Amino acid sequence: MSLQKLREEIDSCDARIKHFFEKRMHFVEEIAGLKKELGLPFYDPGREEAILAGLGREAQELFRKIMELSRERQARLLFPFNIVLIGFMGTGKTSVGQKAACLLGRPFYDLDQIIEKTIGMPLPQYFQRRGEASFRRKEKELLCKFPFGDGPKVVLAVGGGAVLDPENAALLRAKARLVLLTASSETIFKRIGAGAGRPLLGPEATADKIKRLQKARAPIYAACTQWRVDTDGLTVQAAAAEVLNQLALKSGS
Ligand code: S3P
Repeated sequence: MSLQKLREEIDSCDARIKHFFEKRMHFVEEIAGLKKELGLPFYDPGREEAILAGLGREAQELFRKIMELSRERQARLLFPFNIVLIGFMGTGKTSVGQKAACLLGRPFYDLDQIIEKTIGMPLPQYFQRRGEASFRRKEKELLCKFPFGDGPKVVLAVGGGAVLDPENAALLRAKARLVLLTASSETIFKRIGAGAGRPLLGPEATADKIKRLQKARAPIYAACTQWRVDTDGLTVQAAAAEVLNQLALKSGS
């Protein structure tokens, strides 16, 4: 076949791919509507695995991208709001938030990381030099400056103490849907070790110390939101999927 002819064949394939891609995205949007109406989960990793099974490496790569674009299209319809993860340290806010943002195809931010960048040192060092009160002032100042609504919708994780300030909590509730992550004190102790990098617990964190602080904060966290995910025994991916599924199932009040 001549080069000209082969190129015509490719153009004809591309036209068909484009047609079927648009058709697929249309069905994807319809499915988003059904998921909302019937309260079905947003993200089903089993379904994605089934689509990929039996495909060769290149086709898998292509279909991964197609599914990523499909998820993003559904996400725009199902989650037209910012998402903020709150909860005690070690409940997985940063890792789960990152994964959820990745599934939605939107940016992820971590308030503690923003604070560290601004103050130019790790939080434990700042706590040691300037104390907790100074940290809380910085936390509040940077939260107030966070550019919610300036660009695409985001996923934001905030430090465990951020919502203890009622004004911070009110601001977050006005700008986003809040999801509370929880875990048992034993799980948290296992995840954060003896507290290195968690200045609030001091140099010697124990499961007991964690439990006491958790108990004091629990009612404040609970009052912030109706969405809650217990991350005990969940992988990061499963916890992120649960966050999104909960948000898709229970609409805000
Ligand atoms: C704090 C939690 C930390 C960090 C600071 C204070 C808290 O964030 O903001 O050490 O009061 O619970 P993580 O919850 O992300 O560990």
